Amino acid sequence: MSLSQIPVAAVLGHPINHSKSPRLHNFWLSKFGVNGYYIPLDINPRNFEKHIRSLPQLGFVGANVTIPYKEKILKVADKISDRAAIIGAANTLTFLSDGKIYADNTDGYGFIQNIKSRYNDWTAKDGMSVVFGAGGASRAILGALIDDGANEIVLANRTRSRADQLRSDFGAKIKVVDWMKVQNYLDDAANLINTTSLGMVGKADLPIPLDKLKKNTLVADIVYTPLKTPLLAYASEIGCRTVDGLGMLIYQAIPGFERWFGVKPADSLDLRKLLLK
Ligand code: ATR
Repeated sequence: MSLSQIPVAAVLGHPINHSKSPRLHNFWLSKFGVNGYYIPLDINPRNFEKHIRSLPQLGFVGANVTIPYKEKILKVADKISDRAAIIGAANTLTFLSDGKIYADNTDGYGFIQNIKSRYNDWTAKDGMSVVFGAGGASRAILGALIDDGANEIVLANRTRSRADQLRSDFGAKIKVVDWMKVQNYLDDAANLINTTSLGMVGKADLPIPLDKLKKNTLVADIVYTPLKTPLLAYASEIGCRTVDGLGMLIYQAIPGFERWFGVKPADSLDLRKLLLK
């Protein structure tokens, strides 16, 4: 990018109208008075690589990647961060000055930073974590928990083979237990994390009895519609510390914005309100 060029970034997906990223980044662009643009781009799956390769040439500085391209983008990227490689998916691209594409995954970073922003002294080292779910979000969160020093993670998923795969990818800190028996581990948990879509508007609620949950546990949900999921409502009722999913969405976006536009943005109440509209 030449100095006179105005930085432009995008979110790439197909379809793309569900994405909250344009609202989020445009809020920050205006709040910090940055001279730049952020737009949604619906990328046709035909000629996917050609479309992506053309973006740096058109002057884009980077992009977020969403469904259905988060895995596929790794085949196109020239450089891949360690965390994107182990997760097997990227959500943040930076177009380097030589036109090369650097792919990173900031979902796990977003998850951890969101918790730390609410509870400053929290670390994943604090004790055992119970994690529900073994999809893409779980993969990002497990990697980030281990990076933050977690020693013991109890993982349960409806389809056990997906959890076993994560155990084999992330190693012995992960102990896989049956979906129907995971409730027995809740009384020892320092953290309980829901990475499934259960509890989301229109979906069933988690079928796991929570009566063994202790009041000091930190309970985090990646679902943010509704903001207070049935899991978080129960957890706060019994005195747990709770963390909702909207913060993860905000924090995963920070590294990209900072790289592309040169300003480190922050979480704020007005941004949260805007995203919930
Ligand atoms: P993401 O990439 O967003 O994590 P995903 O890969 O589709 O999405 O994973 C969704 C997670 O929610 C999985 O752990 C899934 O369990 P399965 O692996 O058994 O499918 C979980 N999930 C979705 N619907 C569920 C349900 N009705 N009961 C239990 N788990 C469910």
